[in-house]
Amino acid sequence: MSAFPDGFLWGAATAAYQVEGGYQADGKGPSIWDEFAHRPGATYQGTNGDVAVDHYHRFREDVALMAELGMKSYRFSIAWPRLLPTGRGEVNEAGIAFYSDLIDELLKHQIEPMITLYHWDLPLALQQEGGWEARTTADAFVDYARLCYQRFGDRVKLWSTFNETVVFIGHGYITGAHPPAVQDPARAVQACHHVFVAHAAAVAAFRQSGISGQIGFVNVLQPHTPRSNAPEDVAASALADGIYTHWLYDPVLKGEYPAELLAKTQSLWGVPRFAPGDADLLRNNICDFIGLNFYKREMVAANPHGDTQLTANHSGTRGSGHQAGKEFGFKGLFKFVRNPDGVYTDWDWEIYPQGLTDGILAIKARYGDVPIYITENGLGAKDPIIDGEVVDDDRIDYLRQHIAAIADAIEQGADVRGYYPWSFIDLLSWLNGYQKQYGFVYVDHARALARQRKKSFFWYQKVITSNGEQR
Ligand code: BG6
Repeated sequence: MSAFPDGFLWGAATAAYQVEGGYQADGKGPSIWDEFAHRPGATYQGTNGDVAVDHYHRFREDVALMAELGMKSYRFSIAWPRLLPTGRGEVNEAGIAFYSDLIDELLKHQIEPMITLYHWDLPLALQQEGGWEARTTADAFVDYARLCYQRFGDRVKLWSTFNETVVFIGHGYITGAHPPAVQDPARAVQACHHVFVAHAAAVAAFRQSGISGQIGFVNVLQPHTPRSNAPEDVAASALADGIYTHWLYDPVLKGEYPAELLAKTQSLWGVPRFAPGDADLLRNNICDFIGLNFYKREMVAANPHGDTQLTANHSGTRGSGHQAGKEFGFKGLFKFVRNPDGVYTDWDWEIYPQGLTDGILAIKARYGDVPIYITENGLGAKDPIIDGEVVDDDRIDYLRQHIAAIADAIEQGADVRGYYPWSFIDLLSWLNGYQKQYGFVYVDHARALARQRKKSFFWYQKVITSNGEQR
């Protein structure tokens, strides 16, 4: 018998900026990524999402492929500036029509939509007013969320507010690799607080709207392992885990920050400034589920002698900073180091499926029986093409091991309800261009973005029809 419950949502995921293109089509306003990716040197070889894989114009063809793949659910994001070109105010009805048609097309094929409201493409006009450092952005987000509930809530049951705070706040305000390219952890702390406020208020608005369905939050799940048993490495690893997990999960699942951790980091980065009412807002609006994006584990060592500056110039082009002897971390706190026994991807991300089982169970241990969706998981690689076929055996192998890891967690009592490999189709990697592929569907940029099924497409088809038994 399959470990996966009946009705388990076998899906796949994408995000608007990475697939849609049509960056100025039909009244869409500019986002911070439209602006950032056009800055010389900001991204790999100047790649951007102006056209991406043109999902905006080809979504019917793409949904037909999803249906053929057998997907039960599709996780995608809405581009806020497509609906509200300047972030608030006048609605762009053409943008509404695009998502409305996409939702209808999915439902026609019995594919359940899962919407992410924010996958990093903030309307540029709001950045110009201070972005996430300004509380008014949180207010604008709630109005935008309400608009989405009103227009799509009759058909969409699964919602998440934000994707991966650690990445868009961490890279946006600490490493500077993402817009707005700030390098100041204290500013990150406050921007992140406004994200939690926006989330909690959007959860409240969801419940007030009366639409049926569930609303959650999506975070990176990244296990940390100390490099050695030395007490300083163990402490460094626990601190990394606190920052990457507890800081970012507690406010949405417990309704408060981890006080002990904040006491430790207060002298370095300050603490979030609360406006009157924030504490109640967080406490009263715990979300319905948590989405986990799992890719890799980090091995952690102590990082003594120094201030809390970043140890590496984290260009982001290789993702985790292991390239050519570079390391990522905060002086005085911790650093990520290479695991000498680890298996790594071409982008130096450690492949460690056991971390997914352990991570799911750690969430259950800390937060109780919260429903879990694995909202991203996948292998970024340059896929081999042999006789015209994309033979992505490494991806199949990666996904197979991670599906087994989820089955293990379910057998140990975790309430995992769906799995969305990243990604449905090859798409734009924010900082790595189109060379880092993740999809079940290959896009040939030399042949007018023609779609082609990969070997993994046919493999995943069987996984879905057998409810995870054949893998
Ligand atoms: C996640 C994001 O961080 O990882 C995706 O939610 C992203 O948007 C994915 O594409 C893979 O990252 P990368 O850097 O390999 O493209």
